Amino acid sequence: MKNLAIFASGNGSNAQNIIEHFSKGGTARVKLVICNKPDAYVLQRAAALGVPSVVLPRQELVSEPPVELLSLLAEHSTDYIILAGYLLKIPAAIVEAYPGRIINIHPALLPKFGGKGMYGKHVHQAVLDAGETVSGITIHLVDAHYDNGTYLHQATCPVLPDDTPDSLASRIHTLEKEHFAEVVERYISQK
Ligand code: GAR
Repeated sequence: MKNLAIFASGNGSNAQNIIEHFSKGGTARVKLVICNKPDAYVLQRAAALGVPSVVLPRQELVSEPPVELLSLLAEHSTDYIILAGYLLKIPAAIVEAYPGRIINIHPALLPKFGGKGMYGKHVHQAVLDAGETVSGITIHLVDAHYDNGTYLHQATCPVLPDDTPDSLASRIHTLEKEHFAEVVERYISQK
């Protein structure tokens, strides 16, 4: 049984999907949610699902090395880190400590629409501004650069002529729900 730590910054629908998926049994369980915002809704979701959460200040989460974060992950015997709507850059010390064991979901088809500042609605607005007719999700391993690691899975959905960032976000969330937990499970069980 592998132990997962979820990093999340906001609403937490992906965190909830992952927690619920692995609470039914399988190869892994979610031991901990780590969040950088004390008022993030993901904290309420984690509490409702019986998963402990810890809020750490931004400066701790981005420091090199993030001493408190590393010891928290070790205390919970973390095998894999899942970034589920997490908006801070992962420190190099964490990437080095968890090589090939950090998985992110990005709400667009990388390599387009990725990089610093590209998160949530900003991504969907950029997709609409570019006149794309297809968008989707990219589930990938995390390395030292934003949105750069090996892709594990991509899935697509149409962009409709009357889409707003909200309507596109909602279609993307449906794709995320369909694929994220399953791709994580498949990857972990092949390791
Ligand atoms: C998700 O769409 C996720 O793909 C995206 O933020 C949203 C979080 O929603 N992540 C990024 O943009 C990372 N660059 P959630 O809090 O409801 O899971």
